[in-house]
Amino acid sequence: EPHLQISPSILAADFANLERELGRIADADWAHVDVMDNHFVPNLTLGQPVVEALARVSPVPLDCHLMIEDPDRWAPGYAEAGARSVTFHVEAAADPVATARAVRAAGARAAFALKPGTPFEPYEDLLAEVDMVLVMTVEPGFGGQSFMDDQMPKVAAVREAVRRRGGEIWVQVDGGVSQDTIGRCVEAGADVFVAGSAVYGADDAAGRIADLRRLARE
Ligand code: DX5
Ligand code: ZN
Repeated sequence: EPHLQISPSILAADFANLERELGRIADADWAHVDVMDNHFVPNLTLGQPVVEALARVSPVPLDCHLMIEDPDRWAPGYAEAGARSVTFHVEAAADPVATARAVRAAGARAAFALKPGTPFEPYEDLLAEVDMVLVMTVEPGFGGQSFMDDQMPKVAAVREAVRRRGGEIWVQVDGGVSQDTIGRCVEAGADVFVAGSAVYGADDAAGRIADLRRLARE
């Protein structure tokens, strides 16, 4: 059985109380940190100094999702800031091979992300350089959007390519993942689940994480 992992997105957390909000997801496998720069996506969140501060207090490793221009320049800095996984978008990277290598050299797991309109096939060879692929199941930029079912064939294609290659590369889904949609993601071959509003919108975040784990195993 694959190791199914839950990565709650703090985008849906109370930004005035991030240490406390990280404490609510101590049972999760990761804390997903959405970095947005107002250019790659029309929203602005936080950057390297905040990631550094979060890494000092987080009970779980940080899974940094960079929705920024020029990740070639910035991605390794997030690994140096303490993120244990750094994901950059292929649409923004000029040299994704070098960027993935630089992230790994800085001590983090490396991953690339695909927006809903971006096909996987042109990037299949990049699997040699990464530890995870993120298939977006909403347009990046905002939490609370509806899950895009039409991305499931892409998840299946990534899973199949990973299986053919051999080795252990995780397949992450992000956007609209909830109790209602996690089953479809598992079925398509995902094994790392980002959930923002589903976890932080619950009164009992730990209970919701447990629900998601149970539903993923069903
Ligand atoms: C969207 C972000 C997601 C977001 C998901 O651009 O990458 O991580 O927080 O939020 P939900 O789970 O509410 O769709
Ligand atoms: Zn994200």
